[in-house]
Amino acid sequence: MNLTNKFIIAILFITSIVVSTFIYFQISEQKEILNNELNQRIALLRSHLESNAKNDILSLKYEVENDIAAFNFSHIDASFKNLVAKDEIDAVILFNRDKSKELFVGENSFKNQFPKQEINTLTLKEINNRNNFVISLPIIINDKWGEIHIVYSLKILHEEVRRAEENKKLKIQSNVKKAILTSLLLALILLIFSYFFARKLLSPILLLTETAKDIANGNLEISDKLSSITSNDEIGLLSASFIDMTKKLDTSYNTLNIVNQSLELKTKELQDLNLSLEEKVAQKVKKITEQERMMISQSRLAAMGEMMSMIAHQWRQPLATITLMIADEKIKSMVTSKESVESDKILDKISDIIIYLSNLINDFQTYFKPDKSAEKISTTLLIERMEQIIQTRLKYENVQMHVEKRNEVFIETYANEVVQVLINIVNNAIDIMVERNQTDRHIWINIESDTSDVTINIEDNGGGIANEIIEHVFDPYFSTKSKNGTGIGLYMAKMIIEKHICGRLSVTNTKEGARFTLSLPKRQKKQRVEFNDANTSLL
Ligand SMILES: Nc1ncnc2c1ncn2[C@@H]1O[C@H](COP(=O)(O)OP(=O)(O)OP(=O)(O)O)[C@@H](O)[C@H]1O
Ligand SMILES: [Mg+2]
Repeated sequence: MNLTNKFIIAILFITSIVVSTFIYFQISEQKEILNNELNQRIALLRSHLESNAKNDILSLKYEVENDIAAFNFSHIDASFKNLVAKDEIDAVILFNRDKSKELFVGENSFKNQFPKQEINTLTLKEINNRNNFVISLPIIINDKWGEIHIVYSLKILHEEVRRAEENKKLKIQSNVKKAILTSLLLALILLIFSYFFARKLLSPILLLTETAKDIANGNLEISDKLSSITSNDEIGLLSASFIDMTKKLDTSYNTLNIVNQSLELKTKELQDLNLSLEEKVAQKVKKITEQERMMISQSRLAAMGEMMSMIAHQWRQPLATITLMIADEKIKSMVTSKESVESDKILDKISDIIIYLSNLINDFQTYFKPDKSAEKISTTLLIERMEQIIQTRLKYENVQMHVEKRNEVFIETYANEVVQVLINIVNNAIDIMVERNQTDRHIWINIESDTSDVTINIEDNGGGIANEIIEHVFDPYFSTKSKNGTGIGLYMAKMIIEKHICGRLSVTNTKEGARFTLSLPKRQKKQRVEFNDANTSLL
């Protein structure tokens, strides 16, 4: 329902309430006036009737007194009949004091309705359910002789009252009709008036509503009609603020559009940037992977070289023995010029030495192969495996290794990888002591453990690492060795311990040299980085 209809309905509702209240009060007042009029009329009629009755009974009394004195009772009877012939008189009775003589004319039903007490003055009394009244008077002839009573009918009065009431009803009905018709006419006039008034009053509001709808649909152009609302009332004020608001909205909308456009541009730029960044990152990752692969192959070559040199060291002694044995045998055969049982024994020995040399190569191969799975191993055995590989070099370079084996702890780990790391660290220590021509050469190894980790400390007295470079020793390709160093050893060792085994590898300087600390979890955790054979095998 629109605003105009609501307005009209409200006006009609208020009007109908006002008019019906007005009609109600008007009719009530009219009723009261008519009732008063009626009561006055009844009182007048009654007093008229009563005064007639008084006149009648007084003149009858004198007549009757004269007739009784003259004993002319037939005249009394004739007078009575004359009276009863009147419409308003129903009966007349005369009786003497002791009621021995009686004269009655009229309807028999009234015979017993006369007052029973003796009367001495004029009395009036209503009887027969107020349909009649009796007027009574004593008859005096010298003294009281008897009483005379006349019964008057009130029917005429009642008839008059009924007619007056009917008239009153008719008057009220016609008044109600008139009032309803007048109200309807008034309502119609009001309807027409309120329709035009509502249109006039509400048209600016309707216009504002329409404009608001347009704005909601994105049309921010203000219609000329809206500008034509120039009244000084609240609607004029509303319209002015509405126009102002729309203009501001338009400005904000335009600004928003500009911001949006620049935002879109920026987003596009950002997307492009992201794309090129992704490309750059991919290229970088590719480059790093490539470098890592190169590093691994370099480290593999370096480890192989190291192994070759260690094998060479360990082979030198047995090979010299074999050479000596063969030379010795040659001299003996030249002197005796016959084959002896001795030579068989020597050949057996040579064969044993060759088997030993072959096993040595196997040992090296085993230790340089990465483990497929973690194994349970004691720290003592781990260090022994490292010693077995490195012992010839230690002996050759005259380095004393002191291993504190008291704190033997069992751990679950990738044993071969740990052995590789230990070899790397010990080799570095030997390298530095040889390079610095250290005369008294020592390496100390000790084990500590707590509930979750085992710590292996490898300490040397090679003079330590210069403070300027100590934080770079684990960087790839960092080496102070001019010819033989690739600078990958410690980098690989840190990778293996921290990324593969989930432990820690660090270095500090002591008074006499460097201390490398390897912290290993007692139970092998899930690997952070999966290594494959090609990546970690140093052989
Ligand atoms: N115990 C040590 N005392 C003093 N300096 C050391 C010690 N261990 C390592 N360094 C220094 O750390 C550097 C890096 O060692 P790393 O094992 O990574 O490379 P490298 O030994 O030079 O070459 P390679 O790849 O042949 O092992 C060494 O060049 C050396 O200067
Ligand atoms: Mg090294």
